[in-house]
Amino acid sequence: MILEVEGRKIGHDWRGDGLPVVLLHAFPLDRRMWDDQVLAFSDHFRVITIDQRGFGDSHLTRPDYTLGDAAHDVASVLDSLDVKAAAILGLSMGGYVALALFRLYPDRFRALVLADTRAAADTDEGRARRFASAERAEREGAAIIADDMVKLALAEDTLARRKDVVRTMREIIESNQPAGIAAAQRAMADREDSTGLLAEIKCPTLVIVGAEDTLSPVSEAEQMRARIPGATLRVIEGAGHMTNMEQPAEFNEAVIEFLNPIAGTVE
Ligand code: MLT
Repeated sequence: MILEVEGRKIGHDWRGDGLPVVLLHAFPLDRRMWDDQVLAFSDHFRVITIDQRGFGDSHLTRPDYTLGDAAHDVASVLDSLDVKAAAILGLSMGGYVALALFRLYPDRFRALVLADTRAAADTDEGRARRFASAERAEREGAAIIADDMVKLALAEDTLARRKDVVRTMREIIESNQPAGIAAAQRAMADREDSTGLLAEIKCPTLVIVGAEDTLSPVSEAEQMRARIPGATLRVIEGAGHMTNMEQPAEFNEAVIEFLNPIAGTVE
């Protein structure tokens, strides 16, 4: 489905009934990375997937957007679907957008799932790496970025044995526009530090991380869990950074088990 906001298209889909559950994708993928979750979750919840600006079916009209703008897009989609509050699940970059959304609209959260992500802003070195990667995407195209990301993000065993996961990840990345990839790198480089925000999160929160995630390691996830009141942590074995694609059964079971009691409560 396409929502038009001020002449800009936002790609999104929804399926199922009940508790609205919003899935926010990682960099530099799009809402297709959630195919396994849409199938599994839509038996229990109303699953909503949204493409961030410049990815999938969502337009990039300005190259200099912020993750706050991306969070406003999520709110616009929720408004269009008449959803006041939802469980928000963000993986990696999706987690940064989830925290930006919490900063703007804390009342729209019935629950939060932060997967393979971090609350801290980038170091100067990290920002410099992002600006270089943005230029590389613009100069050399999405396939080069796919090469880098597949190697960095997936666990060794996934790389060696799960050719389907490697292929799907690569196909999604390669189908995305270099301009969208570059703009997202720059938006992430400029994101605010959300560490101080974590203590203010009062909704039920689950932190998920792949045991072999080197991009946002278990230590980061453990620190977020410790700062968010009442949060729980689930470490998924046999997964790197893309827990939902690498170990979908475990990922889905953890999320469904966490959200089921919330789905039974009145908004
Ligand atoms: C992602 O998977 O979204 C990226 O690893 C996020 C990042 O580059 O920090």
